[in-house]
Amino acid sequence: MLILAIESSCDETAAAVLDMADDRRLVLSNIVSSQIETHALYGGVVPEIASRAHAEAVSGVVSEAVRAAGISLRNIEAVAVTFAPGLIGSLLVGVSFAKSLAYALGVPLIPVNHIRAHAAAAYPSNPDLTAPYLALIVSGGHTSLFDVRDYTDFSEIGSTRDDAAGEAFDKIGRVMGLPYPGGAAMDRLAAEGLRQKVTLKFPSPAIPDDTLDFSFSGLKTAVLNAIHTERQRLGLGDRDDLPDAFRAEVAAAFTRTVVDGVCLKLREALRRTNAKKLVLAGGVAANSHLRAGVEKTAAEAGAALYMPPKSLCGDNAVMVGAEAYYDFKAGITAGLDLNAFASDEGAEAAEKDFLARKI
Ligand code: KG4
Ligand code: ZN
Repeated sequence: MLILAIESSCDETAAAVLDMADDRRLVLSNIVSSQIETHALYGGVVPEIASRAHAEAVSGVVSEAVRAAGISLRNIEAVAVTFAPGLIGSLLVGVSFAKSLAYALGVPLIPVNHIRAHAAAAYPSNPDLTAPYLALIVSGGHTSLFDVRDYTDFSEIGSTRDDAAGEAFDKIGRVMGLPYPGGAAMDRLAAEGLRQKVTLKFPSPAIPDDTLDFSFSGLKTAVLNAIHTERQRLGLGDRDDLPDAFRAEVAAAFTRTVVDGVCLKLREALRRTNAKKLVLAGGVAANSHLRAGVEKTAAEAGAALYMPPKSLCGDNAVMVGAEAYYDFKAGITAGLDLNAFASDEGAEAAEKDFLARKI
């Protein structure tokens, strides 16, 4: 089945063409137009600017995805689009474009949940990965554990009660003067820091109770306090550069705390679900230290670990097309009244509606 997929939930306008079947997960094209440079000026994503940039880019990005796939629009058998969760104005651009394209081509419209799509990013490069599995999704908006009973049946068994891990990486990176978004730069800096002595200690994001939940706000505040204290000690202003060795130590201590805390709950989730397969996905899954920690945890639990390549950890449309195939098979399609939803709760309610309407 030739699927054209569109993603516009945050700051990447993306389109991809996939050829999907029960025994085939082929990526024919993958185009991502990033707005990072525009938002870097403001140190974070500005929603109004993001939706305008999506509106400007979407048509060109979709045309390019079709051209690069070496097919014609007439060959497309379904149009898939991220409809939730994300920035509402951004989502609406992709949803509106996908609706008109599906209508014009006379093909089904498949609404895709962004979080499930992150897990599906691991499908094309892992032909042997089949549900059920345990998924750890770590991104700019989510840090969650899912018991994935089937491709379309995700049950959240643990999540963050406040900030997501990616938000903490970005905020700390910004305060230390790293280029936006901070995650990738923090990854490199932590590697440098781990080569020196790390004495800083921060509170774990693993909530010390019998849930599988996380909290990153205490950790984030503790790291920010340590940075302010060091600035005061050295008589530095907010805009003055911190010493390189200190920044590297902060990045290393913070990253180690995140990885240890996430792996603590992951270990427990693997034990409780007895899962033999684990998927690590989401933007923060590109982090080399997290990948190494999760690899070790999975091996100790005797679970096979599947990860998307780093290039498919951040937002893209390949993951949307990969998930869409299984959604379509489960009867999840939408009409031209499809709406976008910012929250997980909105997405859940809408998904019940798609299934209720299933013919
Ligand atoms: O999944 P994603 O692209 O967007 C959301 O759905 O949220 O995740 C973006 C997040 C950002 O916070 C970014 O800093 C983080 O992923 N990120 C990383 C790395 N690469 C991207 N965080 C830590 N280490 C990285 N190498
Ligand atoms: Zn994402």
